[in-house]
This record gives sequence, C-alpha cells and structure tokens, in this order.
Amino acid sequence: MKRTLESLDPAAIEGRRALVRVDFNCPVKDGAVTDNTRIRAALPTIKYLRDKGARVVLLSHLGRPKGGPDPKYSLQPVVRELERLLGAPVTFLADPTSEAAVTASRRLPRGGVAVGENTRFSPGEEQNDTALAGRLAALGDLYVNDAFGSAHRAHASTEAVARLLKPAVSGFLMQQELRYLGEALHQPARPFVAVLGGAKISGKIELIEALLPKTDAILLGGAMACTFFRAMGLETGTSLVEEDRLELARQLMAKAGDKLVLPSGAIIAQKLERGAEIKAVTREAIPAGWAMFDIDPASERAFATRIGGARTVVWNGPMGVFETPPFDHGTLAVARAMADATGRGAVTVIGGGDSAAAVAQAGLADRITHVSTGGGASLEFLEGKELPGVAALDEA
Ligand code: 3PG
Repeated sequence: MKRTLESLDPAAIEGRRALVRVDFNCPVKDGAVTDNTRIRAALPTIKYLRDKGARVVLLSHLGRPKGGPDPKYSLQPVVRELERLLGAPVTFLADPTSEAAVTASRRLPRGGVAVGENTRFSPGEEQNDTALAGRLAALGDLYVNDAFGSAHRAHASTEAVARLLKPAVSGFLMQQELRYLGEALHQPARPFVAVLGGAKISGKIELIEALLPKTDAILLGGAMACTFFRAMGLETGTSLVEEDRLELARQLMAKAGDKLVLPSGAIIAQKLERGAEIKAVTREAIPAGWAMFDIDPASERAFATRIGGARTVVWNGPMGVFETPPFDHGTLAVARAMADATGRGAVTVIGGGDSAAAVAQAGLADRITHVSTGGGASLEFLEGKELPGVAALDEA
C-alpha cells in the first residue's frame, strides 16, 4: 500500500506547495482540448489540495514531442480548459525548470493553481534524469502523483522526482485506479471474465498469459482472433493474421483449454469502409478475398451471456474496427453487456484506450464500475508488472 494524500496531516498541506504530476495527455485540435476526461479525472485531487490551502503546481506531458519544445504539444490549451473547469485563473509556467517558475510557485496564493509547460520539452525527462528531477522538485514542498496513465513510465517527473521530494503520495485518481484494477486482478468476485480484443496478439500475449491463471474465462475478439482461427487450420481470407505467432496461438489454446472463448463467427467485408457490402458468417466460412472486421451477432450474444453471468469483468481492446461503422457493432454490444452486468451488481473495469473510447462513444461510461484513464499503464498493471511511478511513492 502506498501512502495517500488523505493520510497527510492537513497542517502538512496548508500553505505548502504541492507538486502534482497529472496525466493531461489529452487530444488537442486547433488549439482546444477535444476530450477533457483526464482533466476532469484529476479534479478531486486538485480541489482537495486547494480546499486545504495548498499552492498547487501541476506537471504533465502531452504527446510525444521529439527534440525539445514544439508549440504543437504545448499545454496551453489544457490550461485554458482547466481554468474553465475550475472557474479560476491558472498560472502558466512556460519553463518549469527555471528559477522564474520556482519564484512563481512561491508567489501563488493559498488555493492557487499553476501548470508547467510539457515535461517532455525538457531534456532528461524521458531519461529519468536526476538533475532535472531536482529542478522540478524545487517547485514543491510535497509530491503527489495522480498520473496513473503515465505511471508505467520511469520519467523524471514521475519517478526520479518522487525519490527526491518527500512526502511523495498518491492522489485520489491514482488510488482509485490502483484499487479497482488491483481488486479485479487480485481478489475478483467470481466468475471472473476478461474480454480481450485488438488487432494483434503480439501486444497482448503477456496479458493473456497473466490473466489465464486468474480468470474463469477469456473472451477473445478483434482481428487477433483471426490468428487463432488460422492456427486452428481455418481459412481467414485477407484478414489480418500474424503468421509468426501461429505457433504461439496454438500453445495458448492448448494451455487455456475451455477458458479461451473465441468468436464463433465474423462480420466480413472485402474492403474496410463505410457502405461496403458485409456478411455475417461462421468462422469456418470466411471466403478468400474477404476479411473479418468484427465479431458476428451470434458471438455478441454468446459473449453477452458470459459477461452477464460474471461477477467481475475486465475489458481491454475492441472487438472489431469500431472507428469504422458498422464494424463497431460487436464492441458496442460488449459495452452494453458490461453496463447491464454493472446494473446487476458485477464489478466492471475497462482498461483504458480504445475500449474506454468505445464506452464513452456509447454513452455508457457512467454505467461501468471503473473506466481506467490509463491505456499502456492499465495494460502493464494487468500484466502484473510493477509501475515505476507507483513504486517510487512512499509506503503507507
Ligand atoms: C497515455 O496516453 O497512455 C499516457 O499519457 C502515456 O503516454 P506515452 O505513451 O506517450 O508515454
């Protein structure tokens, strides 16, 4: 267990500068944030600190800038969105590694908020550089990590700084993520069903292997199902198949036995485009020249029944090419089945990324127990890996 923000004596917060690593890596278009989910998710921590009289200095990365500052990846649009959500002015620290930023952090009023420019503009951030971490640590009197989405990165603002600036505690979002993902993984109410999708098995092998001993069933969709179909000796037409993973797919099937549930059929088309002719076929009947782009209605029903009978469900990865309707059908069916299961008392957890986008698109996010804000981070957590940003925090 990691030390939490709540466990700190209010006297250790009042008037102090709280350096908070958040994950404000949000989509930005034409200078505006197009999805503020991650900003909203950090508000409980920011509000708590403001209410307790802290001076709040926020740090985040945005995108993957290469070789220094790049206006395209500036956090300024995020600052505007945060001001709107807080209904209060936010100070922008153009260079969070400068003396001027330290001075500005000291001048913040109690309850005041500042945001530093993109941490990845500073050389050394991604190398977890101690000297850079030292300069960032000068912006605070205590460190709070609420950036679950970045916790799998050992970067100066997520890892090294937590070793330098004490106390180093977890924020509310971080706690919530660790609690729901951790409980699902380590003490699930049974039956425990995992739903896994996505294009390639190569990115999900460790996840499948980690979940096999823990779950009662793994429902597997997405294009990666085709690699399993081919491994079973079936014709897969022009579907995406990872030829170099066929042996691995065979081994996984042999190891998993009945636990691994593949779709019984597919939605196929000759082209991946809206309006293309589509057919629902059994997995034995995918013809040459056609490709699987979604699971078929019979598989949707079978998966929904399994999800409906589960008491814990973890989902990672879409069932088809959900960004191109009508190939979003299977993914939305899983989202609905998870929402219904939640209504019946099951614990449902969505491991970030595309599946989180799908439930948001379906307007069902509120009917899921927990939708993770971390894509890569939740994947690594579910694979059983230690997240460096969490490991560096103080023990409770
Ligand atoms: C994410 O969006 O998954 C996190 O913000 C981490 O971003 P990264 O993959 O660029 O490190």
